[in-house]
Amino acid sequence: MPGKTLSPWTLSWFGSAMIALVLALVLALALDIGPGGFDRPEALAVVHLFALGWLAQVMLGALVQFVPVLAARPLAHARLALPALLAVSCGTLALAGGFLGLNGLATLRPFFLLGPALLGAGFAMLTVMILATLVTRQTLRLAEVRMVMLALVGLAGLWLSGVAMVLTLEGSGVVVDLSQALPLHLLFGIGGFLTVAAFGVSYKLFAMFLIAPEGASWQRHAVFALAALMAGLLLGGLALLAAGGRVMPVLIGVSAVSVAGCGLYLHDVRRLWRARRRPVPEVNMAWSRVALGFLALAVLLMPLAVLQGGALAEAGVFAALVGWLSTLTLSQMIRITAFLTWIQVFAPLIGRRKVPLVQQLTQPRRAAWALALWSLSAGAAALCLLAGAHVGFRLALGGLLIAALLILSELVAIRSLSHLPKSERPARLPPLILPVFLKPSLQTETQR
Ligand code: HEM
Repeated sequence: MPGKTLSPWTLSWFGSAMIALVLALVLALALDIGPGGFDRPEALAVVHLFALGWLAQVMLGALVQFVPVLAARPLAHARLALPALLAVSCGTLALAGGFLGLNGLATLRPFFLLGPALLGAGFAMLTVMILATLVTRQTLRLAEVRMVMLALVGLAGLWLSGVAMVLTLEGSGVVVDLSQALPLHLLFGIGGFLTVAAFGVSYKLFAMFLIAPEGASWQRHAVFALAALMAGLLLGGLALLAAGGRVMPVLIGVSAVSVAGCGLYLHDVRRLWRARRRPVPEVNMAWSRVALGFLALAVLLMPLAVLQGGALAEAGVFAALVGWLSTLTLSQMIRITAFLTWIQVFAPLIGRRKVPLVQQLTQPRRAAWALALWSLSAGAAALCLLAGAHVGFRLALGGLLIAALLILSELVAIRSLSHLPKSERPARLPPLILPVFLKPSLQTETQR
């Protein structure tokens, strides 16, 4: 991949997201959040720290990195990357603070409106960067490019449904039925935005890491068509919500379309897996398979969750956010961080000195242990939510926190090149999460 298409802020997005992940898990343990208690104001704050601070930030950072690769051209309006990062991270903190304000902390109430405003500004800047980079006559033919664009529709729907609920809770003139808005909000966030974006990016990443043929299959086009149908249904649901109608028929339609779409996606990934030229997949791909298992579980729970709600809905949402999206993200993040570090530090030295392989920057066994603990804890926590087992859920949360800290330490080790023998490390290390241009000494060293 040409170094020119690398976005300098990707690792800052990843760093900010990892901080939010650890913070959300620590707070979930400290505030004793468990089965049946996710609608408490402090639980809503933690849920959004996790969903927006961790998952949405890491996904948006990954999009800023991969959109130029998908379009094979540099990122448009790249200067917006830093303001967008600041708006999304501050917006997430403000929204979380605003939720705490619902608990009677009046000083925090203004943050409840500030959060969505900042998030909206951040999402708008990202949308401009992504669309201006992606939209060309050649790229629009690619199903994965169209999927990333569709994910932006999901992001817009997520924001609109969230804003409608914030305005309702604030007692402004806008009033929506929260019991109708909430399922639409969840489906926009988990399905329409995060999962559709993950599908688009994973098609490219999986083919790259498995060394498999990239050509689009009929399944890929069908997955896109079903994702577009889901987005259409959800937008129809928003219109119904605004008109005061019942959204249940929409939710049932979205469940049916999601089961079919995810089934076809999994079938397509299996085809890629079988066509791979890398005989033994690396650790990121081995654990992405577990994430795909969680995707199957979450989507199978979805029709039941829509019809019955309660523990089934909690377990389904948890399996999707923590099992599917987080396991996929954590396993790929290790490999992507190693790759970006290699590009930053060693690519300029090719031909001038012996350079290590990307794989040498990681410690696969340590990463595999951490991902195994994450996956086991995610599965156990989802089961405890189904069974209403509070103590078991807290133990599983502890497992998730330990796994997240282990992965964080592996990411820091990769950035510090500590798995390499001293003789192979450059005299100065790259900055942990800030762009290289803020540490000119490294830039001149690699240019020498
Ligand atoms: C990927 C992003 C997001 C995800 C996955 C997500 C997820 C959730 C979940 C799971 C709940 C309900 C928790 C429960 O009651 O059990 C919720 C509620 C809520 N969300 Fe989000 N959310 C996201 C983004 C947003 C955004 C951007 C906003 C504001 C602009 C927002 C505003 C709200 C509000 C106001 C509620 C409370 C509704 C109530 O009191 O019943 N969310 N969200």
